[in-house]
Amino acid sequence: MYPGKFISFEGIDGAGKSTHIAYVANWLRARGHNVVTTREPGGTALGEKLRELLLHEKMHLETEALLMFAARREHLAQVIEPALARGDYVITDRFTDASFAYQGGGRKLDLRKLVALEQWVHPHLQPDLTLLFDVPLEVARARLAATRSPDKFEQEKEDFFAATRAEYLRRAAEFPGRFRVIDSTLSIQDVEAALDRILESLIE
Ligand code: TYD
Repeated sequence: MYPGKFISFEGIDGAGKSTHIAYVANWLRARGHNVVTTREPGGTALGEKLRELLLHEKMHLETEALLMFAARREHLAQVIEPALARGDYVITDRFTDASFAYQGGGRKLDLRKLVALEQWVHPHLQPDLTLLFDVPLEVARARLAATRSPDKFEQEKEDFFAATRAEYLRRAAEFPGRFRVIDSTLSIQDVEAALDRILESLIE
């Protein structure tokens, strides 16, 4: 549909995806591609304001889902679709799978409502590749504790993250064509080797 390619990074908080975004962006740039890196919620001026609210304010879970998709609508219109239309690579730190995993899995919002929002906001576009960084909860917890003060999601309990992780893995099994699950307990070098193989098959 677009000449560019769309790559999303996913995983529970503390899975370590952020470390690998720069690696993938550099890998593609070294091969002559234009790369736009961005994130959700956020990626636009309005989206970053919504991110502030989403990460720090208490709200009804449907409000949360609607604001995630409102931010996404703006992100698609202003950043993602124009870049894909130019033929760029777009790498996003989270996309709609995060809404299914966190609002659907974690918060138990009826998945049919999320499907309806997805149909509304991006009926045709899906990532060409979704890299799911998967780790056991204890590993993710330990990584988070070492880094920073937690936001609203990061303060959630273990069963929330167990359900979030389970929904990510369920989606990976449902959409095997675009998902690649990466064992994020591996060393950085081993993850990079896995990424090399995945990217080589993507750009052929
Ligand atoms: P995250 O991507 O982990 O950023 P940082 O590394 O800066 O903490 O934070 C975004 C949070 O938003 C994360 O906890 C998951 C949550 N989130 C949702 O709940 N639903 C969504 O649709 C998206 C995009 C994110």
